Amino acid sequence: MVMKIGVLTGGGDCSGLNAAIRAITKSLIHEFGAEVIGIEKGILGLLENKTKPLNLASVSGLIDKGGTLLKTCNNVSPFNYHGNDCSQLVVDNYKALQLDGIIVMGGDGTMSMCHELSQLGLNFVGVPKTIDNDLVNTDRTFGFETAVGVVVDAIDRLKTTSYSHNRIMIIETMGRYAGWIALHAGLAGAADVILLPEYPYELDTVISAIESRAAHESPSIIVIAEGAIAKGGDYIVSKTVENSPDAIRLGGVGHHLQQELEKHISLEVRTTVLGHIQRGGTTSAFDRIFSTNVGCYAASLVAQGRYGRMVTVQNGKLSSIPLESVANKTRTVQKDDMTLISALSLGICFGDKNLQASLTTINDEKMKSN
Ligand code: F6P
Repeated sequence: MVMKIGVLTGGGDCSGLNAAIRAITKSLIHEFGAEVIGIEKGILGLLENKTKPLNLASVSGLIDKGGTLLKTCNNVSPFNYHGNDCSQLVVDNYKALQLDGIIVMGGDGTMSMCHELSQLGLNFVGVPKTIDNDLVNTDRTFGFETAVGVVVDAIDRLKTTSYSHNRIMIIETMGRYAGWIALHAGLAGAADVILLPEYPYELDTVISAIESRAAHESPSIIVIAEGAIAKGGDYIVSKTVENSPDAIRLGGVGHHLQQELEKHISLEVRTTVLGHIQRGGTTSAFDRIFSTNVGCYAASLVAQGRYGRMVTVQNGKLSSIPLESVANKTRTVQKDDMTLISALSLGICFGDKNLQASLTTINDEKMKSN
């Protein structure tokens, strides 16, 4: 019997989706002789029965392209579709397609949905993607590295104009409730201040950092994650999307910080919100390889009938974990993260005196455990 496998991309798009679609399709056909069906528009395709065949020709020329050939959506749940539970429709359409299983690329929202649908008898293998890099139990998600590259490029460009005008430049990144993009891009872009959701910032600590640089005619580069919050403050929300699995869209904290700073400092401040440019563009070499690796591994899992699992990479090794262990969880930047520790030891300001002070303790604990 020829195995029939669906491929679906869910949640927000990111670089590497097309490379993964290509890898999954090629591997399923070459190695396992499978028939491959693309499910369009993410989970919506299972509600509306929108599919297209995937073959070697249709996935050719995709490896470098951002976006997703299959399209996607991040505002639909079959359990609350226009206010109704339409999960049975998804089950019926899945059965009608006579699929053995679906390889689904997504973040925590998509994995949660697939876990719930698994309880109704659908077979899924998950592949970790998101620019946010915030899925638990995996060291990486594809799309992240490309997004970080986009932010670093923007910082490099903004630095020269910051220097020329002696202006403070604030760069707001995406990342939802995790600061991975801001942390990595901030370090690689040599930012002076990095503000993360995990460590609420004190305005006066940020001002001191800026002023001590200004004393030497050096303007500061501030990278702020969209989920960053001032101590005692709250998330800055740009909009809410009704019926969406994750209704809140963050955004605007960069301009908020600018307004607060302008009350206290005489230097000019400008803000750049990078937004969706972090999700598009040419896929980096790293993300091409990584999405190919996780895609091929997902193909081997479906061939073994190992459903209800998500591919992970831990300490450089591919493996898989139950979908439910990923559902509805967020991996955030912890104090023992090596990139955070390096940034702290360079003296980069995180707007949190306690965090800066804890560096010695963190290092002592690391030494003890080695
Ligand atoms: O999860 C990916 C992501 O780009 C987040 O970083 C961001 O908060 C959100 O999606 C934006 O969603 P939308 O595309 O709906 O504006």
